[in-house]
Amino acid sequence: MITTNNDKIKTYTEAVARGDYDLGACNLYGKHDNVRTFWEDQLTRFVLRPFLTKLVEDRKARGEKTRIIDLGSGSGQGYELLTRIDKRDLDLGLLHDRALPIDEIESYLGLDISQPMVDKGNEIFRDEDNMRFIQGDLTNGLDSARDEKPFDLYFSSYGSFSHLSKESLQNLLTDICEHGNNESLVVLDLIGRYSIEWPQYWNAETEEEKVRDYSMNYLHLGLDYEVETEHFPIRFWTGFELDKLMLDINKDTKGQIEIVKKLDRSILVGRHTDTRLYNPRLQSTRRGVNCLHENYMRTDLSKLIIDHDLAPEHPKVSPFLNELIKSWNILVDFCNKRLLGEMQLIELENWSEFPSALQFSLMVIDRVITDTGWMWYGEPRANIIESQLGYALRNLESSMQHGLGCGHGLVAILKVTK
Ligand SMILES: C[S@@+](CC[C@H](N)C(=O)[O-])C[C@H]1O[C@@H](n2cnc3c(N)ncnc32)[C@H](O)[C@@H]1O
Repeated sequence: MITTNNDKIKTYTEAVARGDYDLGACNLYGKHDNVRTFWEDQLTRFVLRPFLTKLVEDRKARGEKTRIIDLGSGSGQGYELLTRIDKRDLDLGLLHDRALPIDEIESYLGLDISQPMVDKGNEIFRDEDNMRFIQGDLTNGLDSARDEKPFDLYFSSYGSFSHLSKESLQNLLTDICEHGNNESLVVLDLIGRYSIEWPQYWNAETEEEKVRDYSMNYLHLGLDYEVETEHFPIRFWTGFELDKLMLDINKDTKGQIEIVKKLDRSILVGRHTDTRLYNPRLQSTRRGVNCLHENYMRTDLSKLIIDHDLAPEHPKVSPFLNELIKSWNILVDFCNKRLLGEMQLIELENWSEFPSALQFSLMVIDRVITDTGWMWYGEPRANIIESQLGYALRNLESSMQHGLGCGHGLVAILKVTK
């Protein structure tokens, strides 16, 4: 049986005490590292953007504000994520135009099993009248939030729902289907089973085999003292299983729930590419990408070239993964050689066979190097070119993925219809 009594998950209690759940700084390690801030949070925002924009505008047209519940909310990381989504890509002259402006929120309710998280959330947001955090256990469906009015957005972020067994997640979504409004949105953020971080989990067949050991020891990277590593069970998901889950839920509910978007997030830069806890063949790619986004710190790009041999062949995973790794390496290698003055764009062979996302990313990097090469102030390589390479690599991952469950995170946006 999967354990979700969070008193038993000391990791969270200790992380709150250490300050990891204070809203905060980004850096090379830890909860708010650069990949979380510049890749994961941003990609979640990009996929959510059109759906959230429409939801808020529809409510506004009816003279209503938006009601949000954040399930497994921690201390409210989701609030920051949601309120910083721009409705569209901004050109140089525009200021922000948010999809969910703060004054369009009727209420934000955070629900978490961990009392320290709830207390921390209530402390951080004590000045916000429309925000509350309550204790509740999602293994009981909506639990302590069941008597609240329907929400427009049932949000979750970063693996909260992977603490639940398949049965508990199915019950929770059934609950949401009954509790929600017509067109309520649900955001699932699960741990992907086909991630290169744990190839030994890929072939799981029984329910028991899909619930496996997990550790958040990545929160301890960079600490200068020893912390005992805790292990707990997590349910790992593939995109195919999510499709099947929707069919099962729709048999039992009055409302219908459908997936409108899936995203594999952090395919080559999952948390455990750095810890190598479950796959010792990995190469600390996340650390390298964190470095790309760090100001005044140059990255050894040769260390970002990824070995093709990181995981065994698998019919559902390998065709996509091999193409992504190949594209990633071509982009990194080109950027490196271009910086060293050893290669021009027209010298790349087999251009017409490259995926369009790779062609675009190569053109961007070429242009960025041309346009910043003359700059003198502020370390253009570390502060501009490398962070642009980071975004170009992010573009490869997000444009090429198919929502298979190949990333550390598997995000799905669901819509309730009644
Ligand atoms: C990985 S953290 C994510 C926290 C936050 N959403 C974020 O984006 O950083 C998972 C959260 O799920 C909570 N959680 C785990 N099991 C739960 C359950 N059965 N009911 C409610 N919350 C739970 C944990 O206490 C923790 O705060």
